[in-house]
Amino acid sequence: MADRALKVGIVGYGHLGQFLVEKIQNEGPEAGLQLAFVWNRNADKLRDSLPKELILHDLSDFTHRDTDVIVEVCHPMIVKEFGVKFLSRAHFLVGSPSALSDPQLEQDLRTAAKQHGKTLYVPSGALWGGQDIQKMNDSGTLQALSIRMSKHPSCFRLTGGLLSDWTEGEGRRVLYHGSVAELCPIAPNNVNTMAAAAIAASKLGFNGVTGEIVSDTALSDYHIVEVEVTGPDGFTVKTVRQNPAKLGAVTGNATYNSFWSSLLEYLFVLFQSAKVMEEGYIYVDNSGLLQKVKKKKKNT
Ligand SMILES: NC(=O)c1ccc[n+]([C@@H]2O[C@H](COP(=O)([O-])OP(=O)(O)OC[C@H]3O[C@@H](n4cnc5c(N)ncnc54)[C@H](O)[C@@H]3O)[C@@H](O)[C@H]2O)c1
Repeated sequence: MADRALKVGIVGYGHLGQFLVEKIQNEGPEAGLQLAFVWNRNADKLRDSLPKELILHDLSDFTHRDTDVIVEVCHPMIVKEFGVKFLSRAHFLVGSPSALSDPQLEQDLRTAAKQHGKTLYVPSGALWGGQDIQKMNDSGTLQALSIRMSKHPSCFRLTGGLLSDWTEGEGRRVLYHGSVAELCPIAPNNVNTMAAAAIAASKLGFNGVTGEIVSDTALSDYHIVEVEVTGPDGFTVKTVRQNPAKLGAVTGNATYNSFWSSLLEYLFVLFQSAKVMEEGYIYVDNSGLLQKVKKKKKNT
């Protein structure tokens, strides 16, 4: 780890933001982390739990804070509005990668990362097997990838009033089946797992990965993520991840620790390898990043 505490700015103070802030407050000193700032669109929510010098009232003022890494955990709109600006000053962990379904935004973020010697990082979040998908993608053996996410209707935040008419006990309803590219704008907060998968499977991309969202009133205690990978000669892998979740929550319980682990690994690698910082890479998950660092060292 670096010889000084790394400063982390947290953007968003919902379930994930609160979890990460508490973790940094409690375990940060040991892990070599400290808070640079916390922003939430409603600052009232921050007043009771944070010292006032850590509260950022206007997000544009992040430039006045000394920050090593900015972590977005609120909404893809913020990635769109601030991502390039963040990367001009700090490394950027994108908690809402569904924003990257916009190819122009993805390109702008990559360019900004490269230009400013920063990195853009996509944590695996609720995705299981992201590294394996990435390996198959890189070796050219990934032929198809589909992901189904099933949740209680209260857990969905959909645009256009889709699902506004649900009733308790109605059962199962397929809400969408098609490309992840088209699904991301419909369910920006709910399909970040699919977006992370589409980034790992970059040769298929957001248009080539299939997504399905299912509302099911029987799922009051957990979310289900099913991933199906297809390779050559009949190769298939199917995983079913049952993630306990609070009713109405967009994030399943196990995903909180996944984010924390990704953040620790990311910071560790960033400050072990200055070379990575120079190149402005985009990665899904820590292991992919570590592998590429090792390869680079061997070649030089
Ligand atoms: N990558 C993954 O696998 C993964 C997994 C879970 C959650 N997420 C994403 O992380 C983000 C945070 O998750 P959470 O569980 O904390 O959600 P949450 O609903 O508990 O909190 C979201 C926070 O962002 C704020 N917010 C909502 N829309 C906003 C907007 N347009 N501008 C500014 N602020 C806005 C809300 O007020 C709230 O404070 C979400 O986008 C979620 O989809 C990603």
